[in-house]
Amino acid sequence: MAASEAVTDALRELHARYAGVRGGRRADYIPQLARSDPDAFGIALVSMDGHCYSAGAADAAFTLQSVSKPFVYALALSTLGLDEVSRWVGAEPSGEAFNAISLEPRTGRPANAMVNAGAIVTTALVPDRAAVPAFTAVLSCLSRFAGRRLDVDEDVYRSEASTGDRNRALAYLLRSTGTLPVDPVAAVDTYFRQCAVRATAVDLAVMAATLAHGGVNPVTGETVVSTEVAAQVLSVMATCGMYDASGEWLLRVGLPAKSGVSGGLIAAGPARFGLATYSTPLDAAGTSVRGSAAIGALSERLGLHLM
Ligand code: DON
Repeated sequence: MAASEAVTDALRELHARYAGVRGGRRADYIPQLARSDPDAFGIALVSMDGHCYSAGAADAAFTLQSVSKPFVYALALSTLGLDEVSRWVGAEPSGEAFNAISLEPRTGRPANAMVNAGAIVTTALVPDRAAVPAFTAVLSCLSRFAGRRLDVDEDVYRSEASTGDRNRALAYLLRSTGTLPVDPVAAVDTYFRQCAVRATAVDLAVMAATLAHGGVNPVTGETVVSTEVAAQVLSVMATCGMYDASGEWLLRVGLPAKSGVSGGLIAAGPARFGLATYSTPLDAAGTSVRGSAAIGALSERLGLHLM
């Protein structure tokens, strides 16, 4: 990792350079997300020694949305192992939008755990027990990745729950093909709550850094998942994390990453850093316009591309 001053300078400079960019649109299919501040823009980077660098609105809270998916995939992998999880959800890029109907022709599974269909199945794999309901396990896992107790934005949860018929339709379709192990209504409800968990860009950078650090949170020192699981999750982020823009992203930026429609974006440099941005206007693939520009430029400037 480059020297601290170089990182601080780079974050400040990129923030200044991209804060004025006006392209993109806030997601409005979850009505509450359209109420977000389109000008808020934060960047955070966490190193393997737990040092946090940030610029702009890095402490502004927003909901994780799809940025939650790799971490719940990590929970499912930790609980059930790769072979069992892979019986239910694949690991191939879908080449399609995040909300596409994703059913592999041969196996009937969703293509991967990063698209909505695969994420709903992944969440449904988390054991739902009276003592520890599935969402309690999900929230606890996300909180351990972040190194602090996260909570749910109830307004965003209700907003998605009252409009999320496409995800409900995906869940029923998956159930009809034998690919969803639990009741569709329950699966989608837990998934909506997971998407509405609230965090900041700093939290997201710690979460990404935990994956980059082999599953050990570099701030708290807690082992959240095994090195093996962290590597599995980063692999799927590299190939599928940016949906139908994943190939182009890896080619140009060279980092495993995950986007979310609330404007969050994470990227991880294995054994080097976790990085996150927050800015709500999105491009056509559902990725933050300022976030992808800033992470792309940072990768180039600090030589972060995997090669
Ligand atoms: O399921 C949905 O549509 C949202 N809760 C999450 C989608 C999302 O974040 C897509 N990523 N860019």
